[in-house]
Amino acid sequence: MNNKLLPVDYAERRKCLLSQVADNAVIFVPAAKEQLRNRDVGYPFRQNSDFRWLTGFPEPDALAVLDNRPGQPSYRLFCRPKDLEQEIWHGRRCGPNGAVEQFAADEAFDLDQLDDVLQKSLAGVDTIYYPLGQQHDFDQQVMGWVNALKLKARQGIKAPTQLRSLDGILDELRLRKSEAELSRMRCAAEISSLAHRRAMQVCQPGTNEYELEAELEYIFSKHGAGWAYSSIVGGGANSCILHYTENNEPLNDGELVLIDAGAEVEGYAADITRTFPVNGHFTGEQRAIYELVLASQTAAIQQVRIGESYNAYHAAAVGVLTQGLVDLGLLTGEVDSLIEDEAFKPYYMHKTGHWLGMDVHDVGDYRVADEQGALDWRPLETNMTLTVEPGLYISAGSDCDERWWNTGVRIEDDVCVTDSGPEVMTSDAPKEITDIEALMAGN
Ligand code: GLY
Ligand code: MN
Ligand code: MN
Repeated sequence: MNNKLLPVDYAERRKCLLSQVADNAVIFVPAAKEQLRNRDVGYPFRQNSDFRWLTGFPEPDALAVLDNRPGQPSYRLFCRPKDLEQEIWHGRRCGPNGAVEQFAADEAFDLDQLDDVLQKSLAGVDTIYYPLGQQHDFDQQVMGWVNALKLKARQGIKAPTQLRSLDGILDELRLRKSEAELSRMRCAAEISSLAHRRAMQVCQPGTNEYELEAELEYIFSKHGAGWAYSSIVGGGANSCILHYTENNEPLNDGELVLIDAGAEVEGYAADITRTFPVNGHFTGEQRAIYELVLASQTAAIQQVRIGESYNAYHAAAVGVLTQGLVDLGLLTGEVDSLIEDEAFKPYYMHKTGHWLGMDVHDVGDYRVADEQGALDWRPLETNMTLTVEPGLYISAGSDCDERWWNTGVRIEDDVCVTDSGPEVMTSDAPKEITDIEALMAGN
């Protein structure tokens, strides 16, 4: 990737955000905190996506304070102080000087100055925007700062009168990706595609689900990436459990395995699902279900175009799947009524995708108000990125012939809406039956 994100890029994002909130406002964006896993062992730290998007600052516990009042520093950063002993034990810290020099903060302070500095600088602010209700401790802290200022009313100090949620405004900015963001997403997509190819190449009857998980994550790590979410590797009956994560059973001859796994690169996610036969050859029933899901995905991807409603690609997938289920005898009735009655739901119980970005289920509204104020599915726009992931899940005990049971198929790709149509960023992960069978046969 050659388009490194520079301090000036983050400054542009902050400026854009500040221009979209009310006048005379400050915005608080807290970094993520380190979380204990057990006793003194922490979970791997992952920066809060909003905070990372606005600052690029990698450390926990920090707070970004943006301010759109004329004459005020527009970007203050509060962070952990330099501390030689802590840094010897736990790793480097940037410190306030580093925050100014490397991350272009106008002013930076130790975290222990937070109360003093904020109580002064919030005087006269009308509105505070922050992630309202997301972190109880932070909600309390904000109320504390506001209440402390209210007590100074007799000194002529005016406390902020409005607390507003930041989410809607910031989410809209993150929803449309820049070229720098897209290049990170393409990179995550490429690494993830390699990982799925590897899983297909090494899988054979008797391989355990956890061995494929290890292969996927080996490829992520080998390319300097992490995972964007817990990998799902489900064979046979487990392929019908949508969020299966135990990944600890052997993969058996004659079964399918469903893998939903994606890498994270510089904070950006890929989200790919592939389904393939453990022994490298689809049975007749597996082939029929697989071809149907693939046809529904192809139809859905065609709807990922500028101006199409967000729901159009789900509707396209549902249309193809329902017709196919009727053709295979898994549903009976008239296709339009079956769609209307959602008769497909026992076999297809989720939507056909979601926004994708820094968060695997990324931010952004799916419905927006029209001119009359009524909510409707939003039209797709250039550089929105989403997944297209239809599936069919026929678990044991389903109301159909037993020969279909334990067949779970999902095919998921990551797609960018572009001026020239849908760009499938994950196309290096094979999904045509002939390509999968050839790769698994070593060709
Ligand atoms: N990997 C989670 C999802 O596909 O939504
Ligand atoms: Mn997904
Ligand atoms: Mn997925």
